[in-house]
Amino acid sequence: MSHRSGRHFLQIPGPTNVPDRVLRAIDRATVDHRGPEFGPMTLEILQGLRAVFQTKQPVIIFPASGTGAWEAALVNTLSPGDRVLMCETGHFASLWQKMAGKLGLAVELIPTDWRRGADPAAVESKLKEDGARSIKAVCVVHNETSTGVTSRVAAVRKAIDAAGHPALYMVDTISSLASIDYRHDEWGVDVTVAGSQKGLMLPPGLSFNAVSEKARKASQSAKLPRSYWSWDEMLANNKTGYFPYTPATNLLYGLHEALKMLQEEGLPNVFARHARHAEATRRAVRAWGLEILCAVPEEYSNTLTTVIMPAGHDADRLRKTILDAYDMSLGTGLGRLAGKVFRIGHLGDFNDLALAGTLVGVEMGLALAGVPHKKGGVLAAFEHLTESARAPSRKVA
Ligand SMILES: Cc1ncc(COP(=O)(O)O)c(C=O)c1O
Repeated sequence: MSHRSGRHFLQIPGPTNVPDRVLRAIDRATVDHRGPEFGPMTLEILQGLRAVFQTKQPVIIFPASGTGAWEAALVNTLSPGDRVLMCETGHFASLWQKMAGKLGLAVELIPTDWRRGADPAAVESKLKEDGARSIKAVCVVHNETSTGVTSRVAAVRKAIDAAGHPALYMVDTISSLASIDYRHDEWGVDVTVAGSQKGLMLPPGLSFNAVSEKARKASQSAKLPRSYWSWDEMLANNKTGYFPYTPATNLLYGLHEALKMLQEEGLPNVFARHARHAEATRRAVRAWGLEILCAVPEEYSNTLTTVIMPAGHDADRLRKTILDAYDMSLGTGLGRLAGKVFRIGHLGDFNDLALAGTLVGVEMGLALAGVPHKKGGVLAAFEHLTESARAPSRKVA
């Protein structure tokens, strides 16, 4: 391996680039997590997290990747054999579904072609068919990171209500939280699952459950075995800012700083920034003459764009060309999309020039790898960035 000068472009849809302020915050001496400094910091973090989840309910922090928070959501609320309704929007929804099966839950699946989000009408009709009310939870991935599709979480809530069904509502926001508008309370979500390594601009290693009162009530009678993931002990210890077992001390320093940064920028500005970069990226893809995987414009993701390769061209070969020539990592195609698509991550600590570099790298890579495309994607994106920087709508309160 030889040294490569300049910054590596990490443009996968998470883990994302960790800003210097967060790196510096993590780079501190570890303190006693049961000592006097730690509790007050945790209480500030828990408060700051509630603002990001847009909730007044408790948020629980696990020293784990997002997969752990998926498991925590299921084992705290459900019992062996319970029916759960899951929307198979892509690779991550499929993994959550497989986990539910392994835990002994009976999964009912609403399949899709992986080019659209969860279908509220299909959820409503499945729930209406369940006269015995034996479905205990509806699970949706808000932003499917394998496809670049954002499901309409509020519309699915309305569908559950229209069916008059008491099922818990669980939503995975691992690649949307702190990037795409998400409202745990207003949208009536019972368990929100999230992770540290995307919109929160941290390294991987923390994950979260925001939990409604209804979910906490369900946890009192839920029978799936749980110990490490148990909410009860977490909530009891968190009251004073402590944890039942060793928390990821230095990642929490980073989270404390990241929450300050999000607060300084203002969540509506964070959402508007992601929307603007996503739109510029889509304009680039269209100008290249390539196709966006998401087939429903109102469900376009603001955190990543998945691009379909022209027939006969391998996405991973293009990704390798771009990595070798320009030191940029793009997301690979996952599951049934392997080799067929590549994913451009435009989330987290990101700005106009970072997007410019990313799109220039893709356009040069397409040419270098001999992938049929038109020139001008970068220009189309630049035009949007310039126009939207001038527009008054850029100044979102
Ligand atoms: C939407 C979504 N859900 C779940 C996961 C799994 O999280 P982790 O890999 O942190 O365990 C990911 C990972 O990228 C994801 O994007």
